[in-house]
Amino acid sequence: HWSISDLLAGKVDADTTVTVKGWVRTRKDSKAGFSFINLHDGSCFDPIQIIAPAELDNYNSEILQATTGASMAVEGKLVASQGKGQSFEVQATAIEVLGLVDDPASYPIQPKPHTMEFLRTVAHLRPRTNAIGAVTRVQNCLAQAIHRFMHERQFYWIHTPLITASDCEGAGEMFRVSTLDQTHMPMTDKGEVDYSQDFFGKEAFLTVSGQLNVETYVSAMSKVYTFGPTFRAENSNTSRHLAEFWMVEPEIAFADLAQNADLAEDMLKYIFKAVLDERGDDLAFFNQRIDKTVIERLEGVVNSEFERMDYTEAVKILQNSGKKFEFPVEWGTDLQSEHERYLAEEKVGKPIVLMNYPKDIKAFYMRMNDDGKTVAAMDVLAPGIGEIIGGSQREERLDILDSRIDEMGLPKENYWWYRDLRRYGTVPHSGFGLGFERAVLYATGMKNIRDVIPFPRAAGTAEF
Ligand code: 4AD
Ligand code: MG
Repeated sequence: HWSISDLLAGKVDADTTVTVKGWVRTRKDSKAGFSFINLHDGSCFDPIQIIAPAELDNYNSEILQATTGASMAVEGKLVASQGKGQSFEVQATAIEVLGLVDDPASYPIQPKPHTMEFLRTVAHLRPRTNAIGAVTRVQNCLAQAIHRFMHERQFYWIHTPLITASDCEGAGEMFRVSTLDQTHMPMTDKGEVDYSQDFFGKEAFLTVSGQLNVETYVSAMSKVYTFGPTFRAENSNTSRHLAEFWMVEPEIAFADLAQNADLAEDMLKYIFKAVLDERGDDLAFFNQRIDKTVIERLEGVVNSEFERMDYTEAVKILQNSGKKFEFPVEWGTDLQSEHERYLAEEKVGKPIVLMNYPKDIKAFYMRMNDDGKTVAAMDVLAPGIGEIIGGSQREERLDILDSRIDEMGLPKENYWWYRDLRRYGTVPHSGFGLGFERAVLYATGMKNIRDVIPFPRAAGTAEF
């Protein structure tokens, strides 16, 4: 059978007999002896219109029972549509109703606007809505574009582990992984739970980032990336944070921070251009119904040259802005999202790569700058969203890495293999992480990160 997108795009000649299969969005019955059924199958934003004549033998018994959400297989003739806005429709010669909807009045996905909050309570059915269907196509377009971009530039995709002993970001936001019977946990002499036995006799966690592992591969394969789930046990209930999210993490050898920033800029432009080129139907919906500036903002990213700015400069701009921020800024403090958004939205009006942050607010692996105070870190801040990418040049000098590990009180023995990379043929290298769902938020204009991942995991949200 044909996908609705192929039929509406004219890939099949008019007057051909076709079969389409999908779910009913709406059904309207005319007194003139036929019904109009809008059928969707996920392949594109628009449903296709089916004209079902009353002469069909199951018209009264089945077709008139097929309400919103019912599934069917339709055979009929593809004809040019008389109605406005539709290219083709199907004049049905046979309809097999595959599944009716139990108690149509209580079916949660009615053909009317629903709030995103409500749709989260029916996450198993929300893919049937216009909005979540469009999000799904855009997120898939982004994922394919990421792999294509990496492939064209000869990066290798490395599958890094989800279960790990090392805390990449050193922020203590890891979920424990345990194989032990939680009711009979081993205890230490001090009477505390002995987590060292957790994972078949070792301590283990869910990874917060694939970076440390991908650094091993960059030290042999030169250009690599990882793209997979990551986990953060941070109890932050915001529209930008999840406990489980996907991250794209490219890593490049023989590259400094400026080359890293170039790669980040090129990648964002490439993937957002793919959405503009391939998902015009979904973008038209988002632009009309969700965020009137989404297309303009995407075009802005694709066509503008990103601003580059040092942290120190940004602090001065914020201090001289005359704005009352909730959190005051001084050199050495981490920027809050109100500051990031001021810089990207009000001050510059396009994406900014903010670089060279104070060492004390960044992770142990970032390369120390010659000033002894800052590290070669970068965050990409996008108007309308704030931080979308975090990355750095990595510390490739063993002695300086060791003193950073000590300074931060991290367990050096856990990083023995990471340190080995600096002992055996070390090279300058850099990389970054793009929060995948943040990219989907940006590309759709959706307001809450829980609506751009199929099954959100956040504080207090683990159903489905
Ligand atoms: O800035 P982060 O913590 O950087 C890293 O994890 C580095 N190891 C990446 C690297 O250099 N390879 O996270 C990277 C990005 C952020 O910029 C943000 O877009 C996203 O991941 N992110 C989250 N997205 C959703 N929910 C959360 N809780 C997130 N935390 C970070
Ligand atoms: Mg960050």
